[in-house]
Amino acid sequence: MSEQKVAIVTGASRGIGHGVAQRFRDLGWRVITVSRGPVPDQCPWASELNTHVQLDLADLEQIKHTVEALRPLLGSSKLHALVNNAGVSPKGPTGERVNSLTTDLTVWQQMYNANFYAPLILTRGFAQELSNAHGSVVNLCSIAGYRVHPFAGAAYATSKAALAALTREMAADMASMNVRVNAIAPGEINTSILSPGTSKIVDNDIPMHRLGEVSEVVDLIEFLCSPKASYITGAEIAIDGGQRV
Ligand SMILES: NC(=O)c1ccc[n+]([C@@H]2O[C@H](COP(=O)([O-])OP(=O)(O)OC[C@H]3O[C@@H](n4cnc5c(N)ncnc54)[C@H](OP(=O)(O)O)[C@@H]3O)[C@@H](O)[C@H]2O)c1
Repeated sequence: MSEQKVAIVTGASRGIGHGVAQRFRDLGWRVITVSRGPVPDQCPWASELNTHVQLDLADLEQIKHTVEALRPLLGSSKLHALVNNAGVSPKGPTGERVNSLTTDLTVWQQMYNANFYAPLILTRGFAQELSNAHGSVVNLCSIAGYRVHPFAGAAYATSKAALAALTREMAADMASMNVRVNAIAPGEINTSILSPGTSKIVDNDIPMHRLGEVSEVVDLIEFLCSPKASYITGAEIAIDGGQRV
């Protein structure tokens, strides 16, 4: 019997992360998840034991213990994929962009904790298990890391840009360990993270004039975690309907 593959997916309670967890499970993988809340009751794997840890990845003290909290769930398994997906995009009271001059320093710190330090700590914490599997890391960056976005705030945007740079650094550092590290940069994907005014972006800024679907992002992440992407590392792939052109 072939070995069961294992993935850790952060932020799998809804949106893109939920889609990734569902896809890997459909492929027969064991999937371990992390989010602040419990797995929602409607999730097919809500009642399973030892597949979920509740942690706030915006809290540096909690991130420091993430690897030791997850390791018992992984046991002696190799780690075939780590998807650093959990993220939150703070907005003003009416959904507007929060800018670099007025965003509270606490919010800057939380953004960097969730979007930068959590992927760093998890990836290097599980480097050996990833290496044992010749595994793959996928970091969720954003179009906001490249251009000022009407709704994504300055702290969110700069932390995603930092994550893109970290992806390149870790790809270089882990290539000799047979671990590939890539990022994807979504534009506007149909999840709860979007702001009410997104329809204007769809009309004016996206050449394909539609939102992306979670399943389209999941297809890309599945590809990057598969042997079909065996010569791709250090890449950041835009998935945005042409929004960046
Ligand atoms: N959707 C888009 O258009 C878009 C565009 C560009 C980039 N992205 C990126 O793609 C990723 C997924 O986005 P999404 O649209 O799927 O978001 P979403 O639907 O809002 O889901 C976010 C997930 O992250 C978890 N999460 C949030 N903050 C967390 C924290 N502090 N600690 C632990 N878990 C946390 C949430 O669970 P809990 O609430 O239970 O913690 C949830 O499972 C994010 O990194 C986002 O920045 C999305």
